[in-house]
Amino acid sequence: MGLGRAACIDDLRTLARRRIPRFAFDLVDGGAEDERNLRRNSEAFAEIQLTPRYLVDVSTIDTRVELFGSEFDLPFGMAPIGMLNAFWPDADLILARLCAAKNIPYVASSAASTTLEELAEAADGNGWFQLYASSDDDVTESLVRRAEAAGYHVLMATADVPAAGKRDRDIRNQLSVPFKITPEVFVELITHIRWSLTSLRQGKPNIANYANLLANATSYADVQKTLVSASFTWEHLARLRERWKGRLLVKGILHPEDAEKCVALGCDGIVVSNHGGRQADFGPSTIEALPAIARALAGRIKILIDSGIRRGADTVRAKALGADFVLTGRAMAYGVGAGGSAGADRAFEILQLELVRALGQLGTPSYSTITDSILTSATSKT
Ligand code: FNR
Repeated sequence: MGLGRAACIDDLRTLARRRIPRFAFDLVDGGAEDERNLRRNSEAFAEIQLTPRYLVDVSTIDTRVELFGSEFDLPFGMAPIGMLNAFWPDADLILARLCAAKNIPYVASSAASTTLEELAEAADGNGWFQLYASSDDDVTESLVRRAEAAGYHVLMATADVPAAGKRDRDIRNQLSVPFKITPEVFVELITHIRWSLTSLRQGKPNIANYANLLANATSYADVQKTLVSASFTWEHLARLRERWKGRLLVKGILHPEDAEKCVALGCDGIVVSNHGGRQADFGPSTIEALPAIARALAGRIKILIDSGIRRGADTVRAKALGADFVLTGRAMAYGVGAGGSAGADRAFEILQLELVRALGQLGTPSYSTITDSILTSATSKT
C-alpha cells in the first residue's frame, strides 16, 4: 500500500509501522501499562452517534474557527510531541511548516527535537509553546523567556506529568538513556535501512531546548528531573499566570473542579487531555470526561480536547459535546512516519476531507454553530 491508497489514519499507522524500527514506532504508538486508556480514547469517540439532518444546503461548508485572537481555517491543530525526530527525521519541522501552510496551530513541545526558536520560525505565526515546568525554576523561567522572545503568544502548561508514565513497550524494547544498540535494536536497524540511513544523516535526535543541560544525562531519571517537576502545583500556575502576559492554557485537565480552578486563576483555556493514554492507564477517556467539564465551565474559557482523534467526525463529536477546538497528536505523526512531508500532507488531507464530509452529511454547514442537538442521544429524548 502506498500513500495514495492510504484511506484513513489507521492505514497511515500501518505504513509507518512498516517503515520504522519497532523501538522507535512503539515510542510514539505506545501508551501506559496495559494501554486500556489509549484504546478507550478512540473507542469512546467512535461510540458517539450523530444523527444526520437532510435537505439542508451544504454546498458551502465553513470550517473556520476564531481562537485566541486568530482565525484558523480548521478546528484542529497539532498537539505537542516530544522527541518526534526519533520517529522520523525532521518530523518537527515538517509538521510546523504544514500547520503554517494550512493555517492551523502548531504546538511546539518543550521536549521537541528542534529548538523552540526554529519551530516558531517554521510555524510562521501559528506556533504555540507547550511548557513543562521543570523541577528547577530557573530552567522553567529560561524557557518562558525564550518563548516570549521567539514571539509565541499562547503558552500551554502541561499538568498531567507529576510522575512519569510507565510505558511497558519502551521497557520491553530496553530503551535507555543514553541510547544503546542492543542486538534486537541492531536487527531492527538493518531491516529498516531507509529509516536508519535517513536518521544517520540527521544525527542523533535529542531534546533540543535542553541540549546543554542533558548532555551528561546518564539515566531516564536525570532527563525526567530536568524536564518535569513532581511539585508543580496551583501556586506555581498562579505565578505563571502573573508572569506570562499572553494567552495561557492548561493541558491535561480531566476533572471539572480542576477546570474551575483554571478559570479562577485567569487562564484562557484548558486542554481536556490524558496525554494520549501515555500517563495514567486507569483514567477516563477524554471524550467521556468532556461533558461534565463543559457543563462546569459554561463557556467561560475555551475548551480544547485531544487524545484519540482518528477521524474527521471526531472533531464534530468533540464540538457537539462542548469543545471549541481539538488537537491531534499521533494522527499527524503517523502521516510523517508513513511518508515524511507527503505523508503529513496526506494525514492532514484525510482529517480535513473526513471533517468536511461529516459536516455535509450532518446538515451542519458551519462548524462553529454546531450544538448538542446533533447527538443521537439528544434526538432520542425528543
Ligand atoms: C506526547 N504528548 C505530549 N504532551 C505534552 O504536553 N508534551 C510533550 O512533550 C508530549 N510528548 C508526546 C510524545 C508522544 C510520542 C506522544 C504520542 C504524545 C501528548 C500529546 O500532546 C497529546 O496529548 C496526545 O498525543 C493526544 O493523543 P493522540 O492524538 O495521540 O491520541
